[in-house]
Amino acid sequence: MKESTITLTGHEVTFGADEIIVSKTDVKGRIQYVNETFIKISGFTEDELLGQPHSIIRHPEMPRSVFKLLWDTIASGHEIFAYVKNLCKNGDHYWVFAHVTPTFDAQGKIVGYHSNRRSPDRVQVASYSDLYSQLLREEQKNSDWRQGMAAATALLQDIISQQGMSYEELIFSGINGDSRAPRRRAAAPERRPQ
Ligand SMILES: Cc1cc2nc3c(=O)[nH]c(=O)nc-3n(C[C@H](O)[C@H](O)[C@H](O)COP(=O)(O)O)c2cc1C
Repeated sequence: MKESTITLTGHEVTFGADEIIVSKTDVKGRIQYVNETFIKISGFTEDELLGQPHSIIRHPEMPRSVFKLLWDTIASGHEIFAYVKNLCKNGDHYWVFAHVTPTFDAQGKIVGYHSNRRSPDRVQVASYSDLYSQLLREEQKNSDWRQGMAAATALLQDIISQQGMSYEELIFSGINGDSRAPRRRAAAPERRPQ
């Protein structure tokens, strides 16, 4: 993993409830498309983003175990929803509620990925911020990053089962069952071709 050299400002940028940040990638997570909102919020130009790994906007406080869960899920052909803290070019950050989906060709093979991000619920941002700090500490306790990630993944699974829910239920009912968390929209699921 390439660490970012951007200096963090600690300043959070927010965006409107009516805005959607969109990107599309190839199967390796290299950016193929970004919309105007992505460019505006991230502060990067389109030229700086296209062809780059999506980790160009990775915030160092985001645990690896969350991205492992994301990649394991989408590479197996499923969608995932996740709260993500992202980095702007100038060191500011922005939280998003992301929906990431695989894109299939006519044979049902994954040919890329797509992410739509909305402005997140503030109560959930506070909860996920705490959860991610906990996961990051678990990852960093271990000098071997693979073991650290395995320990954090196990901790995440523990937390999910303690809440008595699946990961997806946790996302939609919110950590600690906060009812103000975003509700699942009745969007048509992305389908593999028959
Ligand atoms: C469609 C798509 C969207 C993604 N969006 C983000 C994002 O907004 N922020 C982010 O840090 N990683 C995002 N990722 C995950 C990155 O590919 C990468 O796994 C992550 O930044 C961690 O970087 P690392 O794998 O180099 O540790 C996305 C991946 C895909 C396929």
